[in-house]
Amino acid sequence: MLSIRTCNVYDLLAMHQCNSINLPENYNLKYYFYHAISWPSLSQIAEDCSGKVCGYTLGKLEEENEKKAHLTSVAVLKNYRKQKLAYYLITLTHQYVNDIYNVDNISLHVRVKVLLVKIEITYPILNAT
Ligand SMILES: CC(C)(COP(=O)(O)OP(=O)(O)OC[C@H]1O[C@@H](n2cnc3c(N)ncnc32)[C@H](O)[C@@H]1OP(=O)(O)O)[C@@H](O)C(=O)NCCC(=O)NCCS
Repeated sequence: MLSIRTCNVYDLLAMHQCNSINLPENYNLKYYFYHAISWPSLSQIAEDCSGKVCGYTLGKLEEENEKKAHLTSVAVLKNYRKQKLAYYLITLTHQYVNDIYNVDNISLHVRVKVLLVKIEITYPILNAT
């Protein structure tokens, strides 16, 4: 059975590890503390029955505009994907953003991998004799 709850400071190391396994954007542990101390309700974890952290959201308000919320990071371990965990984690974070800070939107910036494809067009050389 999996459960979702708001993270506390004791979860931050496991969240940091989950992030390192799943994403190329890795944050310093103190950035997790910054989130937990500044916006204690905006980061959630999913854990299995053994207490293993299998997914998380890391949420915050934007420093320049506290009427905007930002999902700093979301990840779910590979073995736990496609079970709507990310959906529930994000929904809960969004709900707290709305209920506690009265902010109705939350954005997530995602890196888009740009593939540069080299296209070579080869014209057949016809040797007309
Ligand atoms: C992206 C990620 C968090 C999704 O976790 P998840 O728990 O498997 O997602 P869910 O099961 O809640 O899926 C929710 C919806 O997103 C869709 N979805 C999930 N992963 C997807 C993917 N890689 N590509 C396209 N759609 C995807 C699901 O099909 C589902 O849509 P549906 O309701 O129409 O079926 C997970 O794949 C992951 O950790 N990836 C690596 C980290 C990452 O890319 N994080 C996002 C940038 S910070």
